[in-house]
Amino acid sequence: MFAKLFRSLKNLTSSDVAMDLGTANTLVYVKNGGIVLDEPSIVAISTNGNGEGHVEAVGLEAKKMYGRTHAGLETIRPMKDGVIADFNMTNLMIITFINKVMSRFWFLRPRMVVGVPTCITQVEKKAVIDAAKMARVREVYLVEEPMAAAIGVGIPVHKAEGNLVIDIGGGTTDVAVTALSAIAYGESIRIAGDEMDEAIARYVRLQHHMNIGIFEAERVKIEIGSAYPLEKERTTEVKGMNIKTGVPTSITINDSEIREAMREPIASIVLVVLRALEKTPPELSSDIHSNGLYLTGGGALIRGLDKLIEERTGLRTYVPDEPLLSIVKGAGAVLDNFSEMRKVCIN
Ligand SMILES: Nc1ncnc2c1ncn2[C@@H]1O[C@H](COP(=O)(O)OP(=O)(O)OP(=O)(O)O)[C@@H](O)[C@H]1O
Ligand SMILES: [Mg+2]
Repeated sequence: MFAKLFRSLKNLTSSDVAMDLGTANTLVYVKNGGIVLDEPSIVAISTNGNGEGHVEAVGLEAKKMYGRTHAGLETIRPMKDGVIADFNMTNLMIITFINKVMSRFWFLRPRMVVGVPTCITQVEKKAVIDAAKMARVREVYLVEEPMAAAIGVGIPVHKAEGNLVIDIGGGTTDVAVTALSAIAYGESIRIAGDEMDEAIARYVRLQHHMNIGIFEAERVKIEIGSAYPLEKERTTEVKGMNIKTGVPTSITINDSEIREAMREPIASIVLVVLRALEKTPPELSSDIHSNGLYLTGGGALIRGLDKLIEERTGLRTYVPDEPLLSIVKGAGAVLDNFSEMRKVCIN
């Protein structure tokens, strides 16, 4: 009886949270509860003539409104290129998401581990911490996203051993070498999934004289996009608007066209991996040669990207089962084993 009561009390008091605050998606893990939230990082606000805004929706609801807004309604992606582009909106988004998962535990003040971009400035760090505090979070710990990703895929980051992780998100691609609970070497570029969507939209405009929305471009990327020639051709219908006539129209497009469209951003990503390998100190580099590379983030799901990276680097490249969840899983692992893992946090 007492044991049961103690257990349920313990469950209640360990409602600490971990968050992956991404450009494209925000995910939240609750200790003992698993991943409880996975929503796009989007806020919809209505504006009156005086420039005052009122929040209409956040996350999934806001994404539905994207591109379908009118003069008085605007959708914002407050995190752009992996950094906080709009402080107030990021703040509001964090508060909304935390409140959403914590409403059952309104009487508790949780601890939070949050994954942040490697290039985060002091001002941005403070913004994240302030937002969490406003959502009644008791203690906030920041962990760099590639470190969280490495932990999430099961790399023993505390060992005196080098491992290389490539995290391809919406806004940024991070390449990081972890060793002894720290990032021994890191590179970050603002070229990732969003850039590929834009490249696809640009290609369709130039080659097929058709304007397509950014989410339509993303759908095409997910359905038929690839980094390496496929064994079997893939095609999809693309809907947009004819540039000259302004009339809605559609075309069928195949994987080789989309591969061509995505060639430049993918080449930039491969280049940054090669550069990181070149600049990594020799001891760590020899570990990486035996351990291989790990690919995480939504970009890891691009068909054949692992194969292309293997071909260019000559190193085995692994993609975990759920690469979109690596960072939140890693941040969750820090929370679960806080006393041993807190040294990976940067504040
Ligand atoms: N199956 C797929 N194939 C290709 N790309 C995909 C797939 N699924 C998701 N993506 C892309 O992955 C990106 C989102 O990945 P992720 O959620 O890791 O980014 P994020 O963490 O929000 O961004 P960042 O790390 O840059 O802040 C988007 O560009 C999305 O289009
Ligand atoms: Mg990310």
